[in-house]
Amino acid sequence: MKEDYDIEAAGLSIAARREDATPLPLVHDISFAVPHGRISALIGESGSGKSLTASVLLGLTDTEQFDVSFSRLRILDRELTSVDDAGFAHLRGTSIGYVTQDPGRSLDPTMTVGDQIAELFVLHQGMGWNAARHEAIRALDQVRIASAAARASDYPHSFSGGMKQRIVIAGAIALRPRILIADEPTSALDVTVQAEILALIDELRRMMKMSVLLITHDLGIVYQLADQVLVMNKGEIVERGDAEQICRSPMQDYTRRLIAAVPDIGDAPGRRGAHG
Ligand SMILES: Nc1ncnc2c1ncn2[C@@H]1O[C@H](COP(=O)(O)OP(=O)(O)OP(=O)(O)O)[C@@H](O)[C@H]1O
Ligand SMILES: [Mg+2]
Repeated sequence: MKEDYDIEAAGLSIAARREDATPLPLVHDISFAVPHGRISALIGESGSGKSLTASVLLGLTDTEQFDVSFSRLRILDRELTSVDDAGFAHLRGTSIGYVTQDPGRSLDPTMTVGDQIAELFVLHQGMGWNAARHEAIRALDQVRIASAAARASDYPHSFSGGMKQRIVIAGAIALRPRILIADEPTSALDVTVQAEILALIDELRRMMKMSVLLITHDLGIVYQLADQVLVMNKGEIVERGDAEQICRSPMQDYTRRLIAAVPDIGDAPGRRGAHG
């Protein structure tokens, strides 16, 4: 059966605009597809262009600063013609959830966590505040915030880093997006909490049948969770394929070096069982 992709990008290039009018190329002519319902990992050293690539998919690229071109960009059932296509804003609000590294900065310190999530339902679904607050509690419950109904009226500062990231994830999945883009969602967290957050993302993916694009430096995570791996180096995708195959027998020296930096892939207990 033909693979079902939620994102298809072809010939995507990103360059920074410079004052002397010669653009500085940062991402060069990359093509990739994100299969439905799976975890695709985008890996690569710092500065390789991972976050820039994600910003295009999210419609968050600052077009005054960057010049973006592509021969094709399809996200769900929408073929985008340019990066400032109005369609992006709609997709970002409803069909694509986004989680970043720093949960502290994603949350508004002046608003209760429940209201921050409720606001999404008010803004995007025209819900009244009462119904929206109910939905917000449901979302907090879904990410395993204990006593969600009570905790919804607390402010972000009263939660730990891991809890804050759960709340950010609750906001990202609240409107039941079909795609979740997570840009190093655990790198600011304690190691023990990292595993819990990743397990949560994987569980939500399965429950909600979401596609996940996971940007990470951590090859251990890739080995455990990802289905597809895309390896970026200096703005290009230099290797791609099945996670297990890439972790066990990488083709490129660059990928080999990335893997060598993770001590325990070779004797890891194994990958999560089913791919479903
Ligand atoms: N406004 C800008 N002008 C010029 N270069 C930029 C600009 N913004 C980003 N870059 C460069 O683009 C490259 C890719 O950046 P990007 O943020 O996508 O990297 P990354 O792979 O996400 O790295 P990290 O793992 O550190 O998050 C980097 O070399 C960065 O220095
Ligand atoms: Mg980045």
